[in-house]
Amino acid sequence: MTNQKKLFITSALPYANGNLHLGHMLEHTQSDIFARVNRMLGRQVRYLCAEDAHGAPIMLRAEKEGISPEEFVEGTRKEHWQVLQGFNISYDHFHTTHSPENQAMVNRIYNGLKENGHIDTKVVEQLFDPEKKMFLADRFIKGECPKCGAADQYGDNCEVCAATYNATEVINPRSTISGATPIIKESLHYFVNLKNFEEMLKDWMNKGALQDQVINKLKEWFDMGLQSWDISRDAPYFGFKIPDTEDKYFYVWLDAPVGYLGCLKYVCEKNGEDLEEWIAPDANTEMVHFVGKDILYFHSLFWPAMLYGSGIKVPDAVYVHGFVTVNGAKMSKSRGTFINASTYLKYLKPDYLRYYYASKLNDKIVDSDLNMEDFVTKVNSDLVGKIVNIASRCAGFIKKKFDNNLSAELHNPELYQKFVESSEEIANLFVKRQYSKAIKIIMTLADEANVYISDMAPWQAIKQEHKQQEVHQVCSTGINLFRILISWLSPVVPDTADKAAEFLNIDFNDWHAVKQPLLNHEINKFKPLITRMESESIEKMMEDSKEDLKSLEPEVQITGPLADDPIADEITFDDFAKIDLRIAKIIDAQHVKGADKLLQLTLDLGGLTKNVFAGIKSAYAPEDLIGKHTVMVANLAPRKMRFGLSEGMVLAAGPGGEDLYILEPHAGASPGMRVK
Ligand code: MSP
Ligand code: ZN
Repeated sequence: MTNQKKLFITSALPYANGNLHLGHMLEHTQSDIFARVNRMLGRQVRYLCAEDAHGAPIMLRAEKEGISPEEFVEGTRKEHWQVLQGFNISYDHFHTTHSPENQAMVNRIYNGLKENGHIDTKVVEQLFDPEKKMFLADRFIKGECPKCGAADQYGDNCEVCAATYNATEVINPRSTISGATPIIKESLHYFVNLKNFEEMLKDWMNKGALQDQVINKLKEWFDMGLQSWDISRDAPYFGFKIPDTEDKYFYVWLDAPVGYLGCLKYVCEKNGEDLEEWIAPDANTEMVHFVGKDILYFHSLFWPAMLYGSGIKVPDAVYVHGFVTVNGAKMSKSRGTFINASTYLKYLKPDYLRYYYASKLNDKIVDSDLNMEDFVTKVNSDLVGKIVNIASRCAGFIKKKFDNNLSAELHNPELYQKFVESSEEIANLFVKRQYSKAIKIIMTLADEANVYISDMAPWQAIKQEHKQQEVHQVCSTGINLFRILISWLSPVVPDTADKAAEFLNIDFNDWHAVKQPLLNHEINKFKPLITRMESESIEKMMEDSKEDLKSLEPEVQITGPLADDPIADEITFDDFAKIDLRIAKIIDAQHVKGADKLLQLTLDLGGLTKNVFAGIKSAYAPEDLIGKHTVMVANLAPRKMRFGLSEGMVLAAGPGGEDLYILEPHAGASPGMRVK
């Protein structure tokens, strides 16, 4: 094992202007299990994370609270770190991107890119808030969509017609910070020329360390052509100043991933280690990043390019995970399913959630549902009913009859050996991030251990004088099987494992230790290792998470979808009569190259066909739609989109994502019929 590469593991750096919630905890749990398993396997691990401290939103937030941004981010860093420790996330250090170490790394990377000719400058036109005296990022601009005219749309895309555009094209724009009408102003911006890295990125992509879905995304981006990346922001900005400039700052997404290395530098300096041994291009290390699907772009294009372009080792892998949904839907504040990690810890034990996430996680980019009913059932039946049960069925006899000493021989060494032989497969599954498969095998073996104990029925045998030794050996076998199971689960449920370690008088630091059974070994008094999870605790937690619906009418408590998406302003009958709704038959449906959300539909209106781009790709495969009838807005003015002309809209319901349903008429309604 000694010649194995040193392993550097990170999770995405949480933003300093938000609370950690149960979605975040999926990522920290996934990476923590990975770190713990690798440590147990004897690898030298640096497992690091930090606070993502910079950017305009954080600057404005601190200003609103009347404190300096430095004070603000230090406050949230402490809070976040406390929550992470509450979940037993075993980071070797939790740093901040607003640190001298990070600034040094940022400058090193920028200077490297510059010397190697990868930095360009260009004057760009941008909206500027004349009152607040700052350039406005797209999210700080609202106005009418330049394509469809919808009111109240952000500066980069329209939620009504899905058009994307430049903030300077927005009609009647206003600054959401001051309310002022922005003016167009020029400013010099700095860019990383991403095109220079196309070959390198393609090589990197084909090295085999990326998930298939990531490779497909990268190919899409290559097909669309790589754009230069704007890395500068004008003052006022909370961040690092670009060397040799007066009032230009690095965009937060430049210094955020560098924060991984800033943290590593800090830790190396503290331990007297040479940073270069970790990050030189030929370093004998493995560098892996755990991130969510929303930030894949930054980690699979910009980040390897920045590193390569400045002479630093590129990542060996970017492990991308999907999103957490709660009870099948996006987390929602009104339903109490947007649960802060700190609220969870008030009511429930960290091991419950860690176990549940582990039982769902695999190496694919799929969303994981936290279904509260399933959560309670699974944790109680697996952890309490299967695992802890083995120990509690055997421990009493060992204590009462055998003075807390395990027997000199096992009653069933074959069964023990069978468990030992699964150890390598389970380790491999964890290392390949196929946690759910590992957990399944562990639970199947737990079932076997329970069957063995039931078959041997020590509670009956103990009544017979001549079977005392057998009982001793049977219970010692049970305890030894329990020890293997908990050793495998210790990266997943560290609190429970700590208690088991105390009970068994051992530790779980070495994955391979289970090869040797515990014989003639003294154990301690058995105390319950983990208690059953109560449904009431979940209810209390969800109640606590519900945000006051103060903004809604006081007398009527609105729940359900209306709480998140209230009914729009009243319209007149004449307004309504203008909309011509028709039954349409979907006669063809196709993917649209380069479009994340759209499907191209060919609709038959009873003789007339229309071409419509519909934002329903997240919910439907084209083949599921062909032949269906639906309802369309037939008299909507045609719109030129990037992919072609869209001649109407189909009606669908739901919050979005997979949760989107096209309207289907009853049988009998046929193409062309008017919907009244
Ligand atoms: N600050 C950036 C990351 C910079 S990394 C150099 C950021 N922060 S975040 O707080 O918004 O998200 C942190 C991580 O949590 C991301 O990997 C993100 O994908 C993940 N998640 C946020 N919400 C999530 C769910 N609902 N489910 C699973 N992961 C989620 O992005
Ligand atoms: Zn629009």
